[in-house]
Amino acid sequence: MEKIKSLKGVNDILPEEASMWSYITGIARSSFSYWGYEEIILPIIEESRLFVRGIGEQTDIVEKELYAFTDKGGRNISLRPEATASTVRAYLEHSFDQKGVPARFFYCGPMFRGEKPQSGRNRQFYQFGVEVLGADSPLHDVEVIIPAWNFLNKLGLKKTELIINSVGCAGDKENYSRLLLDYVQEYGDGLCKNCQERAKRNVLRILDCKNPACREVLRRAPRIIDNLCAECTRHFSLVQTTLEDAEVGFKVDPYLVRGLDYYTRTVFEIHHSGLGAQSAICAGGRYDNLIAELGGRSEGAAGFAFGMERTLLAVRAEDIDLPVNHPPRVYAIALGESARLRLFSISRRLRQEGVSVVMNYEDKSLKAQMRQADKQHSPYVLLLGQEELDREEIVLRDMTTAEQTSIRLETVVKDIKAKVLA
Ligand code: HAM
Repeated sequence: MEKIKSLKGVNDILPEEASMWSYITGIARSSFSYWGYEEIILPIIEESRLFVRGIGEQTDIVEKELYAFTDKGGRNISLRPEATASTVRAYLEHSFDQKGVPARFFYCGPMFRGEKPQSGRNRQFYQFGVEVLGADSPLHDVEVIIPAWNFLNKLGLKKTELIINSVGCAGDKENYSRLLLDYVQEYGDGLCKNCQERAKRNVLRILDCKNPACREVLRRAPRIIDNLCAECTRHFSLVQTTLEDAEVGFKVDPYLVRGLDYYTRTVFEIHHSGLGAQSAICAGGRYDNLIAELGGRSEGAAGFAFGMERTLLAVRAEDIDLPVNHPPRVYAIALGESARLRLFSISRRLRQEGVSVVMNYEDKSLKAQMRQADKQHSPYVLLLGQEELDREEIVLRDMTTAEQTSIRLETVVKDIKAKVLA
């Protein structure tokens, strides 16, 4: 049979990369916990209407990218394209809204969007992020932005830029949409086909267009931050002064809107300059209407999500060496059947004592096994042949210095542990 390959845009995460993923999520989990974010593990499938309602019917995600299917019970189900809507669903389903305090969640896991794959854009990708719900103060916006920023500093990334904007409240968005529509209608045919379509359905999406002709038109378009109500202006101003006070550098991009409909007031993205077209490694903002939209009372919320693949591309672009990938301490080589059984037992006892050991069970020559030991990059090799067995000894070779020591089998576990863990 022809070999089966993984789906386009759906990748295997091989061991070397997987260890970096765990390292990065470990740092995220621990640094966000200082701000009170607790892990929540959300389902990968949900009722489709959660995303249609939550993210917005006219967004690219819902219109074109949702992996939706009908299951055998006739239910409309989707693979989650993001985790914010699910977090709100869980918040309401488990009555966190009745507790009278903001709920803070951290999550990580795979998301699914049927996008055109390219570097940094996959159909199955991995996000980690936080959400704070029941949170109206502008300080909550900042308590999501600062940990995201600090996390990048912890990883050692430098070529990052934080951009923020305010898209205002629902009323502001409506007024601004009208202003923008009036403005773009003057240019009619000067806009790309996509934008002409967007103008009819969701005019704010035009601001996301990358087409140079549309960008030129938009350079002089009215700006949403010049058209905010007094309360949203005050809110955005407080976010900015608090970020300045925390010495978090940012740039205001008055045309930043996000591809999901639920955002209100503060929106932000963190870009990395080494990534090309898909440069946003993190994105988020406030969503004051989503909880009510999904059946709760009217209360605010904010959050963000990092894309793991892009975060790793950024780590690679800056040549950052993450402290991962520990080869096993010891590679065990046996020559002959009785030595193999004896060494199997010694290796098992060493592991119980906290020494990592890999062993080759095939009947190969010493030379062939030494070659394999080299490939493993283990700092030590344990060698047991018939001759050593007869002497009740085993040889420990330090692969860095090439020094060989004979160790009595009687005390082998204690002595090797002392040497290789020293
Ligand atoms: P988003 O901008 O759609 O926002 O995604 C957040 C991040 O996920 C992006 O900045 C990017 O790093 C990564 N990402 C998105 N799509 C892909 C893809 N196809 N392939 C690889 N990486 C991707 C959200 O998902 C919101 N839920 C964020 C949020 C949380 N807002 C409030 N709370």
